[in-house]
Amino acid sequence: MTSPPSAPPRRRALRGPAVTFRADPFLDDPSRALVHEPDALILVEDGHITRFGAFDALRDAIPEGTPVTSYPDCILSAGFVDTHVHYPQLPMIAAYGEQLLEWLERYTFPTEARFADPVHAGQVARRFLRELLRAGTTSAAVYCTVHPQSVEAFFAESARLNTRMVAGKVLMDRNAPDGLRDTPQGGYDESLALIDRWHGRGRQLYAVTPRFAATSTEEQLDLAGSLLRQRDGLFMQTHLSENQAEVDWIRQLFPRRRSYLDVYAHAGLVGPRSVLGHGIHVDEENFCTCHAAGCALAHCPTSNLFLGSGAFRLFDAVDPRRPVRVGLGTDIGAGTSLSQLQTLNEAYKVAQSTGRRLHPAQAFWLATAGGARSLYLDDRIGTIAPGMEADLCVLDPRATPLMAQRAERCETIEDLLFVLMMLGDDRSVRATYVAGELLHDRDAAPQAA
Ligand code: GUN
Ligand code: ZN
Repeated sequence: MTSPPSAPPRRRALRGPAVTFRADPFLDDPSRALVHEPDALILVEDGHITRFGAFDALRDAIPEGTPVTSYPDCILSAGFVDTHVHYPQLPMIAAYGEQLLEWLERYTFPTEARFADPVHAGQVARRFLRELLRAGTTSAAVYCTVHPQSVEAFFAESARLNTRMVAGKVLMDRNAPDGLRDTPQGGYDESLALIDRWHGRGRQLYAVTPRFAATSTEEQLDLAGSLLRQRDGLFMQTHLSENQAEVDWIRQLFPRRRSYLDVYAHAGLVGPRSVLGHGIHVDEENFCTCHAAGCALAHCPTSNLFLGSGAFRLFDAVDPRRPVRVGLGTDIGAGTSLSQLQTLNEAYKVAQSTGRRLHPAQAFWLATAGGARSLYLDDRIGTIAPGMEADLCVLDPRATPLMAQRAERCETIEDLLFVLMMLGDDRSVRATYVAGELLHDRDAAPQAA
C-alpha cells in the first residue's frame, strides 16, 4: 500500500531589516548581544522559521514559488511577549483615582463579575486578542476570572487564532464579593478540568492562577501547589509585593511567614514557570530566593505608575551575581497600554528614576527573548532563528510624522530602536505574523467585527 500524498509545506518568506538576540544584554555587552541584519531573509515553513540570515546569502535557498513579502523601511522582530495581563480588565482600562486595594474593590471586581456570562467573555476575549496582535504581541501570560467559562472563552479564541498563550482561572476563596469566590476544592476541580481540556492542546498552556495571597486562604494556596504537581509543564502566576498597604495586609494575614514571597514558597508555588507580578517592595533575600528557585518577576511599569505602586528595581533584580528572570507586563487594566513599546517607554523612565539607564537592546530583549526566557519558552518563541515558531512583528519606525523626522537623525540601529520605544505604539506595528500567518496588517482595509 502506498501512503496518501502529504500536503505540500506552507511556505512564505519575509525580507527586510531584522533584529534579534544572540545573548542576554543584561549579562553581555548590549550592542554585542543584539543581532542586526540590515537586509534579512526569514524563511517560514509550516509555522516554523527554517532559515534566517542575510538576504544575499540565502536568496538561492528560497524554494521556487515561495511568496516573498518585503518590508524595506521596517524592522522585523520576534513577536512581543507580555508576561502579565488580565484580559477581563480590558473594558475598565483607565479607571480614575484609586490605588491598588480600593481600585480592586471599586472597579476590578464589578468588571470581572460580568464574566459569568460566556457570551460577554467571548466578546472581550476576541477584542483583547485582536488588540494584542495590533500591538505586535503574539504571546502572553493571561489572567482570566474566577469563572471557568472565562477561561474556556479565552482559550477557544486563542486556539482559533493559533496564538501561543498561557492562561488560567483565577483562584479566589476569600476577601472578594459574592459571585467572585470559589472554594479550595471547587477551584481545584475546575482548574484540573480546564488543565485537562487545554494544557498542551495546540499552542495553549495552562497557568494555575491564585490571584494573590489576600484572596486565597492557606488551604487554597496549598491546593494550588498540589495542582501544579499533577501535570507536567504547568505555569503558576500571581501577584507579589505590589503596593505597601497590600504588603502590610499580607503580613497580618500570614503572621507566621518570613515574607510575602515565603507565603507562596511555603505552598510550593515558587519555581520554574512561576511568574510573580510586580515584586516592587522586595528585599535582597527575596531576589536571592527568586534566583535560586528559577521563578520570574513581571515588570509592569505603566501599571505601577498608574496605581502609584512604586518603582521596580530592574537592575537590582537582574544583578549578574544572582540574576532573576524578568519579563515585561502590561498588566491591563491597571496598565494603561497593551503596547510593549509604550510599556518600554515607561520602563525607561522608571529606570531613570532609580538612577539607571535602560539600553534599547536591553529593552527589546525584555519585550521579546527575555519575556520568553522568563516563561521558559525561549526554545520556541522570542528570537528569530531556525526551529523557532514563526511569531513575528514588523515595526515601522517612521509611523508618524514626528517619528519620521526623528528617525532621520538616527545613525545606529540602537538609536532607531530607542525612537520606537519612546515614540511608538500600535501605529508602529506594520504587521503581525502568528505561526507564519499574517494576522494583523495595519494598512489593510478594516475588517468587520
Ligand atoms: N493584585 C491582585 N489582583 C490584582 C489585579 O487584578 N491587578 C493588579 N495590578 N494587582 C492585583
Ligand atoms: Zn495584575
